[in-house]
Amino acid sequence: MQRRQFLSILGGGVVLAAAAGTGFALTRTPTDALAPWSAAGGSAYAEPRLRALSYAILAPNPHNRQPWQVELKGEDTVVLRVDLERLLPHTDPFSRQITIGLGCFLELMVMAAAETGHRVEIEPFPEGADSERLTTAPVAIARFVEDPDIEPDPLFVHVMARRSNKEPFDTARPVSDQALAAVLASPRHSGRVGGTNAPEEVGAWRKLTEQALQIEIDTPRTYRESVDLFRIGKAEINANPDGIDFSGPMFESLALFGQFSREVALDRTSAGFKQGVEAVLENTRTAMAHVWMVTDGNSRTDQIAAGRDWLRANLAATAQGLGFHPLSQALQEYPEMAAIYQDVHTRLAPDGGTVQMLVRLGYGPEIQVSPRWPLEAKLREA
Ligand SMILES: Cc1cc2nc3c(=O)[nH]c(=O)nc-3n(C[C@H](O)[C@H](O)[C@H](O)COP(=O)(O)O)c2cc1C
Repeated sequence: MQRRQFLSILGGGVVLAAAAGTGFALTRTPTDALAPWSAAGGSAYAEPRLRALSYAILAPNPHNRQPWQVELKGEDTVVLRVDLERLLPHTDPFSRQITIGLGCFLELMVMAAAETGHRVEIEPFPEGADSERLTTAPVAIARFVEDPDIEPDPLFVHVMARRSNKEPFDTARPVSDQALAAVLASPRHSGRVGGTNAPEEVGAWRKLTEQALQIEIDTPRTYRESVDLFRIGKAEINANPDGIDFSGPMFESLALFGQFSREVALDRTSAGFKQGVEAVLENTRTAMAHVWMVTDGNSRTDQIAAGRDWLRANLAATAQGLGFHPLSQALQEYPEMAAIYQDVHTRLAPDGGTVQMLVRLGYGPEIQVSPRWPLEAKLREA
């Protein structure tokens, strides 16, 4: 859910003004939940695999579920598995998006490993994979090899500035051909990346992404899947640094006054629900360019490769100062979305293939990093 506008509609500004005078604002940052961003690459993680993993946990991933579990094996190996408690069965029934997020994680790990002179040999799904569902079998086995010839990845410097920007973009600031081209040039794996900044085409994608979002909201079980993951205010976010976070004095004040809660969000007759929906739709309406990724196949290995390239696209957009906001609703595989899914595939993959990702680009306000579980919470004993 988009933040600032939702608040202004609900009258959050007034509440904020009351709260700001108390110094309340200064104390409401969920510092613990954001700590993994400053810990990455620090002295606690001198061992090369841990160091690389301390960055990998900052990867983008659907609904910030952070479904990764890692095990250090022997002297040089990392085994990555998925946490089956952290899937999104309604919006991502085959865990395609979850797998893309794991690909983002692996690419970030590989980039970070290059910084200490390590090449990483990745074997995806060494025990095979099920295309319908993920299992406890390894998602990847990664071997770290010292390599004096390894080149640092030029996108790595943008890792700390990378965000998913879920705010409205500035409709007075177009995305230049050159900035768009930099994003389109970023993949190294198998993803085919396309995009547009042409106003007429962007207009069509704005409409389609808005319709898709509306369907997700109108479908009770898919909407509820998001609302159940709302973390409202500092205490909830620090206790569960994942999901869809709403932090800052305005949200805390609204929660305090009963104007914002999971119950309000689920009550379709409430003003909070209606205004919240308007606010998220506004995001789709302010897209200034769109980028997508198509793969020929849709195997688990294809999805991992798509994720690896998607992380690169997100970092390349960051390098251009662009806001980057994935809009996955139209690509989701459940019956209510089938017509839109078909429409997207007719447009972007007329000769076959799977549209793995769709994102809006533009210039948005600066936003803070999103919460993360610390690496220690994700390490499993061998
Ligand atoms: C496969 C995938 C799908 C995503 N789909 C959406 C989406 O539909 N809407 C959205 O707001 N964010 C989406 N995101 C972004 C995540 O919500 C975001 O990465 C996560 O909350 C962590 O935030 P960060 O990227 O700012 O670190 C997606 C990310 C991935 C990797």
